[in-house]
Amino acid sequence: MLLICNLIFNQLNIISTDTYKIRFNDDGYTHLNELVVKNNYTKFYVLVDENTKKLCLKKFKQKTSFQFEIIEISSGEVHKNLKTCIDVWNHLTSQNADRKCLIINLGGGVITDMGGFISSTYKRGVHFVNIPTTLLSMVDASIGSKTGINLSSIKNQIGLFSDPITVIIDEEYLKTLPKREINSGYAEIFKHSIISNSGFKKLIENPNIVYDEDTIANSIKIKNEIVIEDKFENNVRKYLNFGHTIGHAVESLFMNKKNKLLHGEAIAVGMICESYLSSRLKGFEMSTVNTIKKHLNKFFIKVNFSKNDILKVCKLIKYDKKNHLNIPKFVLLKDLGLVDINVDIHENLILESFDYYLRI
Ligand SMILES: NC(=O)c1ccc[n+]([C@@H]2O[C@H](COP(=O)([O-])OP(=O)(O)OC[C@H]3O[C@@H](n4cnc5c(N)ncnc54)[C@H](O)[C@@H]3O)[C@@H](O)[C@H]2O)c1
Repeated sequence: MLLICNLIFNQLNIISTDTYKIRFNDDGYTHLNELVVKNNYTKFYVLVDENTKKLCLKKFKQKTSFQFEIIEISSGEVHKNLKTCIDVWNHLTSQNADRKCLIINLGGGVITDMGGFISSTYKRGVHFVNIPTTLLSMVDASIGSKTGINLSSIKNQIGLFSDPITVIIDEEYLKTLPKREINSGYAEIFKHSIISNSGFKKLIENPNIVYDEDTIANSIKIKNEIVIEDKFENNVRKYLNFGHTIGHAVESLFMNKKNKLLHGEAIAVGMICESYLSSRLKGFEMSTVNTIKKHLNKFFIKVNFSKNDILKVCKLIKYDKKNHLNIPKFVLLKDLGLVDINVDIHENLILESFDYYLRI
């Protein structure tokens, strides 16, 4: 299967999902320009935040052959909420945007998650395209069909599965992305390599983070193959939540603090803690756990957690969407590429995993 995907990718630079295609660079824009003609859209809207408006829109304009209107929202996770959606829905309504309009989400995961949600609910759904401009949205948020927004500090509490009509990956957008954001995206690349045991050695042996086009494409392929097998997360898609039970709770904890954490930074904490839990409960080699911790600590600043913070994280884990009957469910590793899902974990062990994280 992977071999066939590789062959297709090498010939055409295309990754096929169950319903749409992920295209790279010029091939993506050419396809979009053709699609625009073929589908007879009435209007085009490009959703941006102030950063992607300033840094990415010029390139998008150069590559596309149709007139569009810009809808700008404020950047940042704190704006990924219902208020922003209402503003955009009101704007579309005031513009008489009909069901045949096309919305193009040009931005990071906040734009692709929220833009996908706005598009899928406006007039019961209009077509949308994702053009991710952060590393994290390229390898993760813009693919896999999850759209949504936060409900106060609960991450992605409201949302739906909905497919873009196409996704365009253009690495050039990363040239303006701050280093901290690049690292945040790398956390998901590293997670994909851990859960699939693909490329792990290459990543840990490199003194810097690796995010060339091949690495990005491979990371997308790993996620895509999992999503194709289990789109609605009944089974193997849960593998992608490795590091995310603790990671999401950590992200929520910091959401309203001055020193916010980026998604990947929170997931890096989650991966270290959950690797430790994997060793305690599933026999995951402690030497590999230490390698993962050492590698992530090279690129991510150590987060300081007070005892009270950790207790709050335990509380927040109870809201996790992966819970069943309010019991937190963890994704743990027996080995690299060998994942176990729906694992119950006692709070004491979670506290212990933070001890391990905080240890030098
Ligand atoms: N749907 C999913 O499956 C999925 C998966 C992972 C993460 N997510 C979501 O993704 C979001 C995080 O995504 P993110 O890290 O991309 O955050 P983001 O969208 O907030 O982007 C990060 C920052 O980079 C700026 N930016 C974007 N592109 C830029 C560029 N090319 N140059 C300079 N600056 C640029 C943005 O304006 C923003 O300030 C979270 O809300 C998370 O929940 C969703």
